[in-house]
Amino acid sequence: MATKQQGGPKTAAKQKIAPATGKLGVMVVGMGAVATTLIAGVEAVRRGLAKPIGSLTQMGTIRLGKRTDNKSPLIKDFVPLADLKDLVFTGWDIFPDNVYESAVHAQVLKPETLAKLKPYLETIKPMPAVFDQYYVKRLNGTHVKKGKTKRELADQVIADIRAFKKKVDRVVMIWCGSTEIFLEPSAVHQTLKAFEKGLETNDPGIAPSQIYAYAALSEGVPFANGAPNLTVDAPALIELSKRNAAPICGKDFKTGQTFMKTVLAPAFKARMIGVSGWFSTNILGNRDGEVLDDPGSFKTKEESKLGSLEYIFQPELYPDLYKNIYHKIRINYYPPRGDEKEAWDNIDIFGWLGYPMQLKVDFLCRDSILAAPIALDLVLFLDLAKRTPELRSIGIQEWLSFYLKSPQTAEGLYPEHDLFIQSMKLKNTLRHIMGAGLITHLGLEYYD
Ligand SMILES: NC(=O)c1ccc[n+]([C@@H]2O[C@H](COP(=O)([O-])OP(=O)(O)OC[C@H]3O[C@@H](n4cnc5c(N)ncnc54)[C@H](O)[C@@H]3O)[C@@H](O)[C@H]2O)c1
Repeated sequence: MATKQQGGPKTAAKQKIAPATGKLGVMVVGMGAVATTLIAGVEAVRRGLAKPIGSLTQMGTIRLGKRTDNKSPLIKDFVPLADLKDLVFTGWDIFPDNVYESAVHAQVLKPETLAKLKPYLETIKPMPAVFDQYYVKRLNGTHVKKGKTKRELADQVIADIRAFKKKVDRVVMIWCGSTEIFLEPSAVHQTLKAFEKGLETNDPGIAPSQIYAYAALSEGVPFANGAPNLTVDAPALIELSKRNAAPICGKDFKTGQTFMKTVLAPAFKARMIGVSGWFSTNILGNRDGEVLDDPGSFKTKEESKLGSLEYIFQPELYPDLYKNIYHKIRINYYPPRGDEKEAWDNIDIFGWLGYPMQLKVDFLCRDSILAAPIALDLVLFLDLAKRTPELRSIGIQEWLSFYLKSPQTAEGLYPEHDLFIQSMKLKNTLRHIMGAGLITHLGLEYYD
């Protein structure tokens, strides 16, 4: 692509992005706490009952040009995003409860808020799910598809997608389902051919989340993974994503504790403060907490949560500061708390001449209140990626790593976990596709 120099930062030619006209269909896999908080929240905002707090696409601005230009439009006025009024939701769950019933069960939103939205929420009923208890031990679903092979199940999801496509103009799929057991990539995940053979032969390496992802990508539908499951983090599905111009991103919404970690750890590193230990514990009592009480699902979550510090601290570059960090993560299922999780961190740090200090963080967060706006932004940005020539065929959308605990990257590339690098990456990607100058924060131009 042609570039021109415009007072420092490079400016790309503006992309021919298709407009966001018509209805955007959002297919949500797993209609539990996060999904119902997302759907009810979007409806509350549409009706003017509340503000979309926490959503960058709805509330964020983007600076263009020099600081002295005073030009900072809303992101949604700068890039062509689908309007909230055009979102149409559907989805799947292993329980037949409609979105109102499921939201009541999740106990995230207040009964008086849900009461106002009840007639709308009751109209959204999940389709039968692809489910196998082998992959989520703590759940026993009744509302499930039947098929002799995983191929047959994938075909049933494809049929669901095709039927929904008749009602809307574009479709995006997002996984808000439970965390599956820990799966290492195996031979079946290496090529699309091997994966498709594995669907026929019921290869145990293919989890239900991958059957949905396969169906979405086969239909050219973008797919976001909000859980730490392997799902689209496999060469076979990356290949399919590129082939069918269906953007992907994952994995695991970066909400409470890891969100804070990826703010604090870069701060310590920026000031060359050492860290000897980081103990993180959580108590939570929602269904997610119950699922994570199973060692298999916990292992998947633990791997996702552990990665960020290792990459941010780069102990190979700073052995004196970060080589021997003791990093421990605990998740405790504690029903009285429901969705109102508490995340504690004890951080043992050391400064000048090795003198020790401590920092304690106690984050009384509401898990799904933090996750819902992330899910919304991922849906809207994946739809934008699908309409943007330079983004739609590259597969992984690394610029969305801002929202994710274990960002997917190209093979051989380490992920960026630092929230502020991620934020700059996201905004510069938006500037790039719109042909606006990138912002490097150099700032020498003000001192000519
Ligand atoms: N809440 C957060 O802040 C947060 C943050 C990061 C990641 N996550 C992840 O997002 C996911 C959803 O979290 P939640 O709090 O909404 O959990 P939840 O238990 O309330 O909802 C998950 C839903 O998925 C359904 N489900 C499970 N397997 C399914 C399948 N194969 N097909 C269709 N539906 C299926 C369950 O029945 C349930 O209704 C979890 O994997 C969680 O780890 C949540």
